[in-house]
Amino acid sequence: MQKPIKASAIANANIALVKYWGKRDKKLILPNNSSVSVTLKDLHAHTTVDFSKNYDRDIFILNRREFRVGTEEYEYTELFLSLIRKIAKSKLRAKVVSNNNFPTAAGLASSAAGFAALAAATNEALGLDLNKKKLSMLARRGSGSATRSIYSGFVKWRKGKKEDGTDSYAKQIADAKYWPDFRIIVCITTKEEKKIKSRAGMAQTVATCPVYNGWLRASKDDLKSIERAIAKKDFTLLGKTAERNCLKMHAIMMTTTPPIFYFNKPTIDVMQSVLEWRKEGIECYFSIDASPQVKIICLEENIKKVKEKCKHLKGIKKIIITKPGEGVRIIKKHLF
Ligand code: PMV
Repeated sequence: MQKPIKASAIANANIALVKYWGKRDKKLILPNNSSVSVTLKDLHAHTTVDFSKNYDRDIFILNRREFRVGTEEYEYTELFLSLIRKIAKSKLRAKVVSNNNFPTAAGLASSAAGFAALAAATNEALGLDLNKKKLSMLARRGSGSATRSIYSGFVKWRKGKKEDGTDSYAKQIADAKYWPDFRIIVCITTKEEKKIKSRAGMAQTVATCPVYNGWLRASKDDLKSIERAIAKKDFTLLGKTAERNCLKMHAIMMTTTPPIFYFNKPTIDVMQSVLEWRKEGIECYFSIDASPQVKIICLEENIKKVKEKCKHLKGIKKIIITKPGEGVRIIKKHLF
């Protein structure tokens, strides 16, 4: 019996300040636009992978639930494992166990954290010794946003131009300590799994949204503004750009056929409240990914006020206060 090759990694979720929506290559997961995100402290996926002759097929357990062959979750994990086997020239099947410490598939970039952790764990287990750039390209093949979760702090995913995707990877803009008073308040408005997965949703948008090209043009300008805002630590520019970019993404989602609505009633309530709070002089901005959860961005000086205001909003099930966090790392603690 061959000695099992086991490794574990932790990767954090991220939220996009300039979002990615739409692929130019579905197989290689190459985006139509570049994006920028913040890796979030405390919200993470812990993944253990074990390659062994003892398995006659891959096994995937997420949050104590085993996914069967044929389920989307199983098939994407298996596809990823086949890719890494090809790189490593290995025939060994694997068992993957992963736990998230936040609601899975509810739009908190669980796939980003999950695939970033899986990329790092498989790289370690099979002794591939990939550097961070290569690791971010590998994570990209699991889920686009996972590309960015390899790094800590503020991260850019360059869309790249090449057909083979070798120039589409993430780069750190600034580390987690760069902006010490930068805060993100995650407002959980539902713990249910999202109805439309981003993979299917974005394909639908690219195929049917009549204003998709407008989104691509606008995201180029937003990218420049966000990079400038981060470089100058200009919070107002960052917040305004991120909030408007989020609204533009949801506008193209809604003008997809059939329309994609990720918001629930509390989502809209939080968004409208944030606009009101700004009028009252509390500087904060919202951002929403492919889910009903709202992330409020503010500086430490306003955190108490925003938290207090959130407590009075009906429909918020849980609040997580976080800040820029760590990149992917290997840990000794295995899940099995
Ligand atoms: O990488 P995916 O398939 O989970 O898509 C991510 C899409 C958004 O979260 C909406 C935007 C982004 O850039 O993270």
